[in-house]
Amino acid sequence: MTPPEAAPLIRVIAMPADTNPTGDIFGGWLMAHMDQAGATVALRRARGRVATIAVEGMKFHRPVKVGDEVSLYGTLLGVGRTSIRVQVEAWRRDRSAEDASQVTEAVFIFVALDAAGQPRPVDEIGRPAAGDEGVSAPQKAQ
Ligand SMILES: CC(C)(COP(=O)(O)OP(=O)(O)OC[C@H]1O[C@@H](n2cnc3c(N)ncnc32)[C@H](O)[C@@H]1OP(=O)(O)O)[C@@H](O)C(=O)NCCC(=O)NCCS
Repeated sequence: MTPPEAAPLIRVIAMPADTNPTGDIFGGWLMAHMDQAGATVALRRARGRVATIAVEGMKFHRPVKVGDEVSLYGTLLGVGRTSIRVQVEAWRRDRSAEDASQVTEAVFIFVALDAAGQPRPVDEIGRPAAGDEGVSAPQKAQ
């Protein structure tokens, strides 16, 4: 497997406190980091506050082990009136090795919010700057 070439949005080390009783990392721990990575893309696109409204197609391909380096990647898929769709992937790597493998994927949907916490049009505040559209899209390894 070839590791992704793009820089990840988040990189984190899986620790013992993040495990279930069988020693694998909790799925919820991974989802929390995926949510944060997706929000990084959505916040930048919305140029303001966002909230996660839905997660589609969540898939756990492989387990993550304690001590693994986990890298989170996000790609802007599309923008609706108030919503933003972000493809998020997590990849793991044994820190003493070079090979990385994909462990999760999902599409996170965020809603741009106004100061009162209500949906607002994504482009109400401003258009994205040139170069903001494609964010850290990893090359899939086979
Ligand atoms: C975010 C929130 C303010 C949106 O209010 P709402 O009245 O439900 O919003 P709407 O029904 O107008 O939908 C807003 C957008 O989300 C989209 N959306 C709503 N439900 C969706 C779903 N299940 N899947 C995909 N998109 C969805 C709508 O299509 C709309 O997009 P568009 O404007 O681009 O067409 C409200 O749902 C909320 O506060 N949710 C809790 C958010 C939160 O706390 N998240 C953290 C997890 S605890």
